[in-house]
Amino acid sequence: MSFVVRPCAPKDLKDILRLIKEIAVIYNVPLTQLYTNVDVLHKHGFGERPKYECFVAEAPPEQKSKEGHTIIGYVLSTYTYSTWKGRNLYIDNFYVMPEFRGRRIGKKLMCLAAEAAWRRGCTELRMHSSSEKPENHAILQRWKAEDLSSKHGWHLLRFYNDTLKRRAAQSKV
Ligand SMILES: CC(C)(COP(=O)(O)OP(=O)(O)OC[C@H]1O[C@@H](n2cnc3c(N)ncnc32)[C@H](O)[C@@H]1OP(=O)(O)O)[C@@H](O)C(=O)NCCC(=O)NCCS
Repeated sequence: MSFVVRPCAPKDLKDILRLIKEIAVIYNVPLTQLYTNVDVLHKHGFGERPKYECFVAEAPPEQKSKEGHTIIGYVLSTYTYSTWKGRNLYIDNFYVMPEFRGRRIGKKLMCLAAEAAWRRGCTELRMHSSSEKPENHAILQRWKAEDLSSKHGWHLLRFYNDTLKRRAAQSKV
């Protein structure tokens, strides 16, 4: 199968939102918990100082998905800063539609994200993977990702919106 991997353009954002929703369904996250839409994605990705970088995989029209889509995968990343290592790439989403997997599309997306990061002087690429999806974890480990949880006891932590708001309010007292 032929496909191209290229930088995401504003015209792709409707498809990115569709794929973001597909991921939410896979991880049993209610769609009501997604606080994004095409306008938000546009503002954050294509404004004066873009907050993320995104590459899409596109199939030719004659090889579109069963439902008629040609944007079949994407990788969306952002840059972070480490006091030890300087600028790093963080991949927030990495996804290929199930019917197109196993054709090296994922690998190509990952390589493009890595190339952009390398060109910008990053020394590391980080992402999280869920133990609910061991098959993804296995792919990333085969690609030489180190598991910081099992090897170094690191945990990914999250403060939710209400805690964030409460802490922010406490900054004034
Ligand atoms: C991880 C993912 C992006 C890989 O995409 P892909 O296009 O299938 O990737 P590739 O074709 O480049 O293959 C990647 C590896 O998986 C293996 N693989 C792919 N499909 C496979 C299958 N059906 N059975 C066994 N192995 C498979 C390939 O052999 C390859 O391994 P290798 O590089 O060690 O040889 C894709 O599986 C996916 O989207 N998974 C869901 C990810 C997810 O949950 N994302 C949301 C949170 S960010």
